[in-house]
Amino acid sequence: MSNNVIIIRLKAKSSDIDDEDDSQKGINKAAKGGIAYGDYLQLDKIVNAQVLQSELRGNKIHDEHLFIVTHQAYELWFKQILWELDSVRKIFIHNHVRDERNMLTVVSRIHRITMIFRLLVDQFAVLETMTALDFYDFREYLSSASGFQSLQFRLLENKIGVAENLRVPYNRRHYRDNFHGQESQALLQTEQERTLLQLVEQWLERTPGLEEDGFNFWGKLQVNVEEGFRSEKQKLEDLSKQIELFNSLFDSKRHDHLLSKGERRLSYKALQGALMIYFYREEPRFQVPFQLLTNLMEVDVLMTKWRYNHVCMAHRMIGSKAGTGGSSGYHYLRSTVSDRYKVFVDLFNLATFLIPRAWVPKVNRSIHKFPYTAECSDSSYSSCGSYSEED
Ligand code: HEM
Repeated sequence: MSNNVIIIRLKAKSSDIDDEDDSQKGINKAAKGGIAYGDYLQLDKIVNAQVLQSELRGNKIHDEHLFIVTHQAYELWFKQILWELDSVRKIFIHNHVRDERNMLTVVSRIHRITMIFRLLVDQFAVLETMTALDFYDFREYLSSASGFQSLQFRLLENKIGVAENLRVPYNRRHYRDNFHGQESQALLQTEQERTLLQLVEQWLERTPGLEEDGFNFWGKLQVNVEEGFRSEKQKLEDLSKQIELFNSLFDSKRHDHLLSKGERRLSYKALQGALMIYFYREEPRFQVPFQLLTNLMEVDVLMTKWRYNHVCMAHRMIGSKAGTGGSSGYHYLRSTVSDRYKVFVDLFNLATFLIPRAWVPKVNRSIHKFPYTAECSDSSYSSCGSYSEED
């Protein structure tokens, strides 16, 4: 945005007699050097973009207006989410997360995304004031238009990290076949770019304390867990399942197997980093990383809720009829409310591996000078790759 001072005039002040005169004369002029509210927001484009297909065909249906505005509002918010997401990915890609101070920016932007999603989850309630019959009155005018073709939603999924091979098949066609030209190119590009999942994965792999020749968190944890179970075993008999579970945790081959089935999504090393952040979340070094992991799960939770609310609404509106985009409709949508679409599923599953506090390897002094950001934290802010929007 330019440095011009922007004056947004929502309402003329009573003392502003000249302004009132101006508006009486029908002159929509902003204060000197400023820009008027409508021009700033380009409202002429936005509020004139509701074209009712029913009206064009001489059969104006009142609720089609709500239908259009609701979709447009969703798309605008998708745009804002993509804006935040891209900025976060950029911070990771340029390695600015090496400076811990930038982690606060990452966390606050991911948190903002979760707040927007909360709104989007609830926003369906407004559209649901339309009855199925009201929808039926104009549904035919949508012809083959469908939310399935929402480019921004697909970009969002791809940039977060919904895996191509885990997508629910859609009429035996690749999801990208619904898009053409530049849109298809844009999607292809996001499939090739590093996703938020991959970037977070790389960041987790660098978790300080994982080094085998250093704190060696994983090695220590394994020893403690095995020892812990050895002593517990004498007291309880039904621990075998749990032991099995933990054996699987320390088995990298099993991890790779689960990874290949899509049941785990993070690399083995990143999983270790995440568990470490969980265990040491109270350490100053890990407080912000822990917030990030919490917020990432929140994104998944809210996207799942969005999908769920959307499918319930679609069910109510069209029952089991096929979708305008050609899918089986309700049944297709229902199948997307699944862990296959939960990108950070590993973070949820970490709770499976919680252990008594006494088993968690004790932090030693080395944890306070982990190299994660060591080269940055003691030097000046600017020399240390602090993030700026121009990067
Ligand atoms: C009366 C309201 C709605 C109905 C009946 C409805 C129905 C459907 C159906 C049946 C599909 C599956 C694709 C197809 O065959 O068409 C779909 C997909 C989709 N719709 Fe809606 N929808 C409604 C409102 C909305 C709204 C307000 C949004 C907000 C942007 C939206 C976004 C989407 C998206 C992103 C998909 C793709 C989901 C996926 O493939 O995982 N829909 N919708």
